[in-house]
Amino acid sequence: MVKKNVCVFISGTGSNLKNLIKRSREYNFPIKIKFVVCNKENALGINYARINSIPYLVIDTKKRSYENLILLNLKKHKISFICLAGYMKILSKKFLSSFGKRVVNIHPSLLPKFKGLNTFRKVLKYKEKKSGCTVHFVDDKLDSGKIITKKKFFLKDSESERTLKIKTQKLEYLAYPEAIISIFRYS
Ligand code: GRF
Repeated sequence: MVKKNVCVFISGTGSNLKNLIKRSREYNFPIKIKFVVCNKENALGINYARINSIPYLVIDTKKRSYENLILLNLKKHKISFICLAGYMKILSKKFLSSFGKRVVNIHPSLLPKFKGLNTFRKVLKYKEKKSGCTVHFVDDKLDSGKIITKKKFFLKDSESERTLKIKTQKLEYLAYPEAIISIFRYS
């Protein structure tokens, strides 16, 4: 199997990055993580790139041409697919048109419910019975591209933002690899 060269974009803890790196070591897993992009200098997730000797780029999003810099680096590392994993910036239309359908994201809700930030707070506020995560293709609108997979759980009465996060992330570590396998199944 020829594995696809993938770049993971992060902003924070990078636990999905860590999980994808681990899974990508499996013989049959269709991708290898060749590059990491991060927009936060002190993001913990960068350490997973470091300890796994994966090249990474920390970008300064205050600079106007930062997306061009990313594109140049993606070319240099022969990246053909992007996984967003907690990346807190919106990618421009121009950037996405260079990549087409080759960008996916994971979101901690059952989309189309609760797009954007503060998902767990909203889930509690609206007294949802179930919640979960969604992996979807990225388009130029927030959390709204074609859905690839969702995983759900049912809420208990005692649920808090903290327990929701733990339960959701546990499902994310299954959903993201599954979605990636399904995208590349026939390629
Ligand atoms: C995940 O919960 C993901 O759904 C959201 O951001 C979080 C990133 O967590 N988009 P981590 O940095 O992978 O630990």
